Amino acid sequence: MPAISCSAPGKIILCGEHAVVYGKPAIAIPVFNVATNCHIIAQPTASSNETLIAAPGIGLRSRLSSLRENHPIRKAIEFVLDSMKLDHLPSCEIHINSSIPSAAGLGSSASTSIALVRALSMYLGHPFDDAEVSRIAFEIEKIHHGTPSGIDTTVITYGKPLFFIKNYPYELLHLRNSITLVIADTGIKSSTAKVVAEVRSNWEKSHREFENYFDQIQDISRNVKRCLESGNNLTLGELLNRNHCILIEMGISCSKLDILVKCALENGAQGAKLSGGGQGGNIIALVSSEKAETVAEAIRHAGAVNTIITRVPSEDEKAK
Ligand code: PMV
Repeated sequence: MPAISCSAPGKIILCGEHAVVYGKPAIAIPVFNVATNCHIIAQPTASSNETLIAAPGIGLRSRLSSLRENHPIRKAIEFVLDSMKLDHLPSCEIHINSSIPSAAGLGSSASTSIALVRALSMYLGHPFDDAEVSRIAFEIEKIHHGTPSGIDTTVITYGKPLFFIKNYPYELLHLRNSITLVIADTGIKSSTAKVVAEVRSNWEKSHREFENYFDQIQDISRNVKRCLESGNNLTLGELLNRNHCILIEMGISCSKLDILVKCALENGAQGAKLSGGGQGGNIIALVSSEKAETVAEAIRHAGAVNTIITRVPSEDEKAK
């Protein structure tokens, strides 16, 4: 068996996070500046039928059989074997490397699952189609996050900007104008599962208030879609700002996220908001391509531990 290598990108949520868990639309964009790579090397001469897993980024070096039963990597392997009706994995080494910071809203867990599931299916000689990759990655995401909407696994599997509503077919987005985003990391690790659970408990306690937030976010996501399709980047910026304000009211922001958002706006961003689970992780700032580096530098000055500039091409550019 030849060695197999598969990569999967990161992602950001442009708008609609949290509300998407409650059936409202959200928009997500793949981020190719960061990625997870999974490399599988067959060990046909290994004496025992054993698999070694090495993921230095999370300090993991272990035999498959030593991983706890519900470890996401172990479950990923089981889901792939089940899907192929196989009972074991031929001896191999699985190396997983990622440049995606964990617990930062950039989709590191979904990206790992997708790179791993794709690589395993290729290694076993039956490459899965995207729908099967996405299905299995979603099952693994449930182990990480409890009640995920599926937006992370969908956008990373298909690698294209999309408009997403839970339990509905996703819609690909066709941008009239390209957009440039600065992604800036607060350096604060935040558990999406914990924040999602907090939102659920607040939604149960203050049902009308939270339903109202979700409805407002739904309108924002629908308008963001229109702006992307019509190339109205100025209104797009205002919508991102409004989305951030609602997330503050919902208790999902934190002071460092707000400082970085404010700094981005003061330095010429057209709009900025937290992205993903919140209470830490990253902000995104919509900028003109000329201002991207200046805004990124200012945000780093204000305390961001890392910035990424990413560009989403327009439909015309993609056609060239
Ligand atoms: O994985 P994160 O932190 O980007 O958050 C995912 C977005 C949420 O809406 C908060 C959760 C979900 O499952 O959609």
